[in-house]
Amino acid sequence: MKKIILVYSGGLDTSVCIPLVREEYGYDHVVTVTVDVGQPAEDIEQAAAKARALGTEHYTADAKDEFVRDHIFPAIRANGDYMGYPLSTAIARPIIALKAVEVAKRIGGDAFCHGCTGKGNDQFRIEFVMRAFCPEMEIIAPMRERNLTRTEEIEYAKRKGVPIAQSVDKIWSIDENLWGRSIEGGRLEEPDFAPPEEIFLWTKGADQAPDKLRRIAIEFEEGVPVALDGERLNGLALVRALNALAGENGVGRIDIMEDRMLGLKVRENYECPAAVVLLTAHRALEALVLTRAELDMKAMVDRKWGEMAYYGLWFDPLKEDLEAFIGATQKRVAGTVWLDLFKGQVKVIGRRSPWALYSEDLASFDSKTFDQRESLGMVKNHGIQARMYLQLKARLG
Ligand code: ARG
Repeated sequence: MKKIILVYSGGLDTSVCIPLVREEYGYDHVVTVTVDVGQPAEDIEQAAAKARALGTEHYTADAKDEFVRDHIFPAIRANGDYMGYPLSTAIARPIIALKAVEVAKRIGGDAFCHGCTGKGNDQFRIEFVMRAFCPEMEIIAPMRERNLTRTEEIEYAKRKGVPIAQSVDKIWSIDENLWGRSIEGGRLEEPDFAPPEEIFLWTKGADQAPDKLRRIAIEFEEGVPVALDGERLNGLALVRALNALAGENGVGRIDIMEDRMLGLKVRENYECPAAVVLLTAHRALEALVLTRAELDMKAMVDRKWGEMAYYGLWFDPLKEDLEAFIGATQKRVAGTVWLDLFKGQVKVIGRRSPWALYSEDLASFDSKTFDQRESLGMVKNHGIQARMYLQLKARLG
């Protein structure tokens, strides 16, 4: 008996993997692991039902709280972003792979299987974790190895009696978790194809959103959100509430060109309502409490963190080092940010913190604490090297 552990979403790619590993790779014992990172409950149930129908040994791992605590919260603290993408899929892949690793450690297995294609980023993220923690196990990636197209997969699934939801003319590839929803495939890949309204499930179009603006207050402690509109909520409840609230107001649609790890430029559509709001609020609070030099340095550290997360190097020592710096800055990222949600827009309208470096007395037009006359010396010498350069250029050409 050769045993293989498949990270199983219940979608097309991973469902097709089940007959494939049996028939073409000779694994007679297929174990499926579905990881709940906040995708719709029906998806989790459907995955279990399909696994049952296809005769696998099936496990569901509820990783929602862990995902929020160990992945989403660090992403907020790092203003986690890659080219305008809040990294929703990227930060979920390591935990999905980790849960498969946990099953492997518990019940044993000869190989892992995943449904990633050879074009995307997920193969890097998932395999890094598998290799890091189970170096002795083989990794099978049938989609990549067989170079299958989506259409071929659909045909194969139909031939093998694999239940699927996709059809050849409506082939959105969806990935969903608490931090966002990604929609790819079909004509969406064309950079100039306007996304049809039907691809959006979490966000209303700006023209469908309520006419009345919704003002919200988010409270942070140590760089993570702890309360919404004065009500203390755990991370999971808070992210869910914000996804609903911001989505209702049309906030969170993202349409970008993204440079994938392999260098492919791809057009990506996301819905990340909670992420967009929380990252906006978090940045606003940092701008109030961190020094200019800290903000400057942190922008560089954050950028690097976003890149590491995108590359799936979740357990890289550099990522830990960056988080040590980030952690030191976040102790003061405490306070409240007020935002208006309105027809697709989120706008910061106020921020307050016990750690604010802002002093009304110093900055105000009406105060004399800051003696303006003392600025003169500094102003006179401002740009002194540039002035010398300009003189030299006029003289020497
Ligand atoms: N481009 C994004 C990333 O690499 C999202 C990938 C989502 N995958 C999908 N099958 N929709 O993180």
